[in-house]
Amino acid sequence: MTLGEPREHHETIGSTNARARKLADKGASHGTLVTADEQTKGRGRQGRTWVTPPRVAIAASLVLREFDDLLPLRAGLAVADVAGPDALVKWPNDVWLDGRKVAGILAESKASEWAVLGIGVNVAVDVAALPEEAAEVAGTLGKSPADVEPTLVALLTALEKRLGQDRVSVLASLRERDALLGRRVRWQDGEGLGAGIDESGALRVDVNGREITLTAGEVTLSARP
Ligand code: BTN
Repeated sequence: MTLGEPREHHETIGSTNARARKLADKGASHGTLVTADEQTKGRGRQGRTWVTPPRVAIAASLVLREFDDLLPLRAGLAVADVAGPDALVKWPNDVWLDGRKVAGILAESKASEWAVLGIGVNVAVDVAALPEEAAEVAGTLGKSPADVEPTLVALLTALEKRLGQDRVSVLASLRERDALLGRRVRWQDGEGLGAGIDESGALRVDVNGREITLTAGEVTLSARP
C-alpha cells in the first residue's frame, strides 16, 4: 500500500477534502493524495472552518479504500508520532503540543466504498496572525516553511505504519498520549473526568463515580488538555 501516489497539488484550493471526495467518487485509487499550499474554505469537524494560510501548513487529504473504524484515531496518532514525544492526542483526534492544538483531522466516508482522511498540521504557522477564534487554541510545530514538505513525507510514513498496525498496539500507543486522562471534559449532555480509551476506541468518562463511554460521532468536547 502506497500513500501519496498519485498526488494532486494545488497552490490554492477551497478544501482538499472536498476535492478528494470528488476524486474518490470518480474512482481514485487507494493512497491518492490531494495537497494545497493554501485553503480558502478549509473544513473542520462539526461544521467548523479550518484556516490554512499559504505555505506554512500541511493541508492534505488521502483517498482510502481500505480502512477500519479506528481510522481517525490512527491518524491522530500518526500526526503525534511526527509532532514529537510531547505531543498528545485529545480524543478523538486533535493533536496538542504545549497545551495548544497543532493539528486537526477530518475523516469522511461513503459506507465502506471510500474514506477521505483530511489532515491539517500547523508546521510553521504564525498563530498570532490567525483569525481570533482560531488563534485562541491554535499552536504550531514551530518549524520553518521549508519544513512543510519534509513533514508531510514523514507524516505519510507514520500513517502507513499506523494504518497497518494491529488494533491492540494502536490503542496502547494512544493511551500513552491520551490528553484527556484525568482531565475534566464537557460535552453537550454532561461532564466528567476522562478515564481512558476503551477497546473500541470510545472515550471512557467517570461521571460522579459511574463510568460511561462516548463515541466520536456523538460529542463535541470543550476540554483543553
Ligand atoms: C478539525 O479539527 O476540526 C478538523 C480540521 C481538518 C482540517 C483538514 S486540512 C486538510 C483537509 N481539508 C479540509 O478542508 N479539512 C481537512
